Amino acid sequence: MKNSYSNIYTFNDKILKKVIKNLDNGGAIGLPTETVYGLGGNAYSKKSINQIFKLKMRPRSNPLIIHYYSMNEAINDVVMNPIFIKLYKKFCPGPITFILKKKKNSRINSLACAKLETIAVRFPKHKVIRSILKKISFPLAMPSANKSTNVSPVDPKDVWDEFKRKIKLIIDGGRCKYGIESTVIDLTNKPKILRPGIINKSVIEKILQTKIKNFKGGKKIKAPGLLKKHYSPGIPVSINQRKHDGKSAFIFLGKKHINKKNFFTLSKEFNLNEAASNLYKIFRIIKKKGYKKIQISKIPNKGSGVAINDRIKKASNF
Ligand code: TXA
Ligand code: MG
Repeated sequence: MKNSYSNIYTFNDKILKKVIKNLDNGGAIGLPTETVYGLGGNAYSKKSINQIFKLKMRPRSNPLIIHYYSMNEAINDVVMNPIFIKLYKKFCPGPITFILKKKKNSRINSLACAKLETIAVRFPKHKVIRSILKKISFPLAMPSANKSTNVSPVDPKDVWDEFKRKIKLIIDGGRCKYGIESTVIDLTNKPKILRPGIINKSVIEKILQTKIKNFKGGKKIKAPGLLKKHYSPGIPVSINQRKHDGKSAFIFLGKKHINKKNFFTLSKEFNLNEAASNLYKIFRIIKKKGYKKIQISKIPNKGSGVAINDRIKKASNF
């Protein structure tokens, strides 16, 4: 069924056929996951990968995450290791991405991996993307469905705002449960978190019974998504703010300023998961309302607060 945005479709069997046809033909389309919406295409197809980079205006040096139905489908592409298998069993399908060594005979298009010898693999949980992955005979290369440097989309209308009719299909899977991108963990060496997410470091440390590192930058860019400017709402952002300047949009936690003009709460109950899920939506709302600047109060750096702080810090590099 079509709704008022002519390329946003409710998911059903008929649309599933359309999705498969489009992906088979090398298309790139808007698809829901439990984290954020993705721009998905056939990971084996050069045509699809080129389209994705072009639509997103993404630097070719920034590799894409490859999405699979399950570990069985990834066996021909990546070298398995015991830590991966342990984390997979605990968290997958779910909001976590693993960097693994690429197998020599992998069919993944080398442009998707920015010609690296590693692949980022993810096994998403959203039921729509799982029914699609189950039906197709190739994995999906799928970055977040936003133009490079913008914030990720968390509902189908956000995807529409990014690409309008430049993509043929946007599948409506509702508002994303987590609303922030997956945790990225590099397992090619000692485990290292490259991008914090809802599955946080201490939970992973508990499973692995070992301390793990956070990525701190360095000469070689491991995850180009860690480049300084990213996740930007398109207007200047100041973090760790105590006092409203009288005119900017002010983002905070709790109920204190709830009915005041210009104030936007991430979570009335100080719930950091809820706060993470509202962040990008609130950025978009503020931008649409025409504010010229965003101030954000200090966010506790624990649990999902670590992921929030990572994103708002990058958003502040405007
Ligand atoms: O939640 C998510 O992960 C979403 C949904 C759609 O699955 N996808 C997503 O993709 O956030 P993207 O392309 O926006 O972010 C992928 C991140 C980038 O920072 C990229 O640099 C990093 O993963 N990455 C991809 N392949 C990599 C590799 N081989 N080595 C290191 N980092 C890699
Ligand atoms: Mg992205």
